[in-house]
Amino acid sequence: DKGEFRHYMMKEIYEQPKVIAACLEGRISESKVLTSCFGADSGFLKEVENVHIVACGTSYHAGLVAKYWLEDLAGVPCSVEVASEYRYRKVAVPKNTLFLTLSQSGETADTLAALRMAKTLAYLTTLAICNVPSSTLVRESALTLLTNAGAEIGVASTKAFTTQLTALLITSVAIAVENGLSAEKEKALVQAMRSLPSYVNAALQEDAHIKKIADRFANKHHALFLGRGAMFPIALEGSLKLKEISYIHAEAYPAGELKHGPLALVDENMPIITMVPHNDMLDKLKSNLQEVAARGGELYVFADKDTELNNEKNITFTEVPKVERILEPIVHTIPLQLLSYHVAVVKGTDVDQPRNLAKSVTVE
Ligand code: M6R
Repeated sequence: DKGEFRHYMMKEIYEQPKVIAACLEGRISESKVLTSCFGADSGFLKEVENVHIVACGTSYHAGLVAKYWLEDLAGVPCSVEVASEYRYRKVAVPKNTLFLTLSQSGETADTLAALRMAKTLAYLTTLAICNVPSSTLVRESALTLLTNAGAEIGVASTKAFTTQLTALLITSVAIAVENGLSAEKEKALVQAMRSLPSYVNAALQEDAHIKKIADRFANKHHALFLGRGAMFPIALEGSLKLKEISYIHAEAYPAGELKHGPLALVDENMPIITMVPHNDMLDKLKSNLQEVAARGGELYVFADKDTELNNEKNITFTEVPKVERILEPIVHTIPLQLLSYHVAVVKGTDVDQPRNLAKSVTVE
């Protein structure tokens, strides 16, 4: 039932404050991550020295964000790979490596094949972060952390992604605690996580503004998404969402790579969508934006007001709430979901069932 919404995708975008709260429920206290959420065998957390994350599509993008969190918070090396590559190569497994899969459906053929292969290798254990409790992935993994997002009907994944990120943040903090994260830092992170549902709700307030911007994309054939740090995977996810439902060709680059090629694409017909975090990369990103502006590119910036980018001419500014650095990738996802949704509606595509795609890819 779509309720008051025209499409499942929009209903699912709006469910995010509620389902993120459901994902956090019972997994954090006022000051700690509750390791019991990993089941009786949470002892593995102490032993993790490496993490291999394997997934497809949007779930793969969630994994890319987790690499930043795991290496930053826990100092644990992490590699992230798409399942269709991982499963067909010889993988070197360092000692005490956790094998972590991410999947909304738990039925993606390549991800399942990767898990089956991993079980023949010398991994510490296998953990699935998944939305469907009865899925094959959950059944075949040693450990599971459910995302609790409820059924996702729209082919374009939205609430499954932000709850995967939430579950990955819980996992990253749990591993960090075993690797010497102080109780004080853990408490600060957990308290930030408690604010996530209200931050996401605040981000949704820009919906009407984003709808207006979307009109300007209807006649575009290309778009470029830029981000730095953990915002780069969010740029990838934003570009996938736009391609998937509006059929506009979109690419994502780490902003620092612009000069190494993609800048040649920039002219007055190229919209450039940039996620600007409010952290130590801000000045670097501002200079990337100047490079683009100098070439006449149409700049769409998603940032908080303290960045003062709202006062720049030549920039179409969308406000994103200012949040703790660790939460920025989750909160910045929301406006990009809304943008791709509204562009697709303007273009009149089948939003919930885009051409050529299936909700779950159960064949190779
Ligand atoms: O069910 P899964 O998370 O394993 O699905 C993986 C991808 O097929 C999926 O995320 C796909 O990329 C989405 N349609 C993107 O919106």
